[in-house]
Amino acid sequence: MDNRSLAGRDLAVLWHPCTQMKDHENLPMIPIKTAQGVWLEDFDGKRYLDAISSWWVNLFGHANPVINAALKDQLDALEHVIFAGFTHEAGIRLAEKLVEITPPGLNRCFYADNGSAAVEVALKMSFHYWRNLGQTQKTKFITLENSYHGETLGALAVGNVALYKETYAPLLMDVITVPGPDCYYREPGESWADYSIRRFALMEQTLVQHADSVCAVIIEPLVQCAGNMRMYDAAYLKLLRTACDKYRVHLIADEIAVGFGRTGTFFACEQAAISPDFICLS
Ligand SMILES: Cc1ncc(COP(=O)(O)O)c(C=O)c1O
Repeated sequence: MDNRSLAGRDLAVLWHPCTQMKDHENLPMIPIKTAQGVWLEDFDGKRYLDAISSWWVNLFGHANPVINAALKDQLDALEHVIFAGFTHEAGIRLAEKLVEITPPGLNRCFYADNGSAAVEVALKMSFHYWRNLGQTQKTKFITLENSYHGETLGALAVGNVALYKETYAPLLMDVITVPGPDCYYREPGESWADYSIRRFALMEQTLVQHADSVCAVIIEPLVQCAGNMRMYDAAYLKLLRTACDKYRVHLIADEIAVGFGRTGTFFACEQAAISPDFICLS
């Protein structure tokens, strides 16, 4: 097996995610044979530094010996079991740990399949909460301009990157999109905090106007990653937490890209000392 033959076999049977396959008429696909730590190695022996952690997911390095050993042990003991009516110790232990390390008040976990599914679950749980209280008029979600929350239809609907969303617009639920706090656009000399606070006025106006019909505001705390790594100040999150309480709307923090230490604190919400009503992790 070599790079060339595998790249040819790949193109004959596969489509790749978020990829314009036509690009690969000129740009060869890179078949990876093995990986260790930050290094990937292809079938021709060429090495690549995995500087994007394989799309931001590989936090602890490839073939991490601790993780691999735990996976192998678990496979030998129990590879899978139905999680309705049954449970298992590893699932309980992980949930206990997550409850311990996530911001105070987040005291239950729900396992989904991936980041997009975690967002879908948070949207559904928020809606369901208000429905259980008889607030059936709450059916909408508020999202930020330039946000990204995944590729499934609900997650795509609450996202706002045209490249991913435009084609599927006729399939997506209506959401309320608020201009964002992206500090790239602050005035010369204006601080990040001042700009973020100034931009929050637009969110507050929207909440005043629509809170009765809104289940939740969904945000990526501090960094809009897929939207070109655009950042804003923690002051925005503090104001948003207070406003969500005031207007009786949930706050969903999508920490799929920023969680687990990527902004300096374990979770980005910690920098604003807030607890969201839901945190999505992946
Ligand atoms: C902030 C954010 N939310 C959701 C997702 C979707 O996660 P997944 O690709 O696992 O479905 C991503 C993926 O990059 C993301 O960055």
